Amino acid sequence: KRPVGAPDRSLARPVTKVGVVGAGLMASQLALLFARRLEVPVVLTDIDQARVDKGVGHVHEQIDMLLLKGRVGQDQANRLKALVTGSLDKATAFADADFVIEAVFEEMGVKQQVFAELEAVVPEHAILATNTSSLSVTEMASRLAHPERVVGFHFFNPVAVLPLLEIVRAEQTDDASLATAFAVSKKLKKTSVLVKDAPAFVVNRILTRFMGSVLGSIDEGTDIATADRALAPLGLPMSPIQLLELVGPAVAHHVAGTLHAAFPDRFAVSPNLTRVVTAGKRAFYVHDSGRPELDPEVLALF
Ligand code: 3HC
Repeated sequence: KRPVGAPDRSLARPVTKVGVVGAGLMASQLALLFARRLEVPVVLTDIDQARVDKGVGHVHEQIDMLLLKGRVGQDQANRLKALVTGSLDKATAFADADFVIEAVFEEMGVKQQVFAELEAVVPEHAILATNTSSLSVTEMASRLAHPERVVGFHFFNPVAVLPLLEIVRAEQTDDASLATAFAVSKKLKKTSVLVKDAPAFVVNRILTRFMGSVLGSIDEGTDIATADRALAPLGLPMSPIQLLELVGPAVAHHVAGTLHAAFPDRFAVSPNLTRVVTAGKRAFYVHDSGRPELDPEVLALF
């Protein structure tokens, strides 16, 4: 069954090589997913060799984990490791790429710069995708000679586990690019939904409302441990603060900032979250013992 709003799948173009820009945790999860499900070469790139090596190293760790769990055999593990490579030379690596996704720092200027660099090296038919959490895909594409090839491809953490994929149609996206995005999503075995190019799309707007309510009650004086435990009887897969840690304080803060800028009367940025991000904290819990405990250093910031 064709997803709502998806163009005719006969318009989709083949994807035989994938590029991933940015070699952070999200990017390395994406690289493995594309290699595993599309079974095509995937090239990971970043701004320096150390980052590229770290990204490829993380892909190898994930493959070793799949092997350990018996999810893939030794042959497939070897094949996957061979499919995912790193490179600093985008011009060569992406000269025959059909689909390149960026997962770099969440800043419009940085992402526009990445797309401009990509447009100069990828083939004319290549799709440029962004995994942005909340930024306008239309604006990101606006400076390109061929903005019709740009789509939003927004995954959810952990990428290998969560089935949802938001596909964002920018104002300029054409049917062939969108059809290709849906075809790729199907091969990735994701459940894709077409969403409007609106601040934080659909899911992050809802999640930010939820997280904003929890953080708001903490900002107003509720003890963080109490707020974190209060929803446990609802049977959510993880507590609000665990979810905030999984998303990453900086990303959550960024999404809240985007939504606050777009809808100042509807979304606030939590001063406590701002303090956590300013302090450079990436986690809310210490995971030393079997059971994670709220980090006293974070508690001291609240
Ligand atoms: N990274 C990678 N894989 C992970 C992981 C992580 N951080 N945490 C868990 N997993 C894997 C496990 O390895 C396991 O895989 P397996 O089946 O191959 O063994 C699988 O997930 C299930 O894990 P567990 O059995 O240990 O634990 P749970 O059943 O409690 O599931 C969970 C863990 C899937 C993370 C679940 O708690 C969950 O769904 N939480 C909500 C996550 C969520 O809402 N994510 C969306 C965040 S918003 C977002 O990402 C958008 C962005 O723009 C901000």
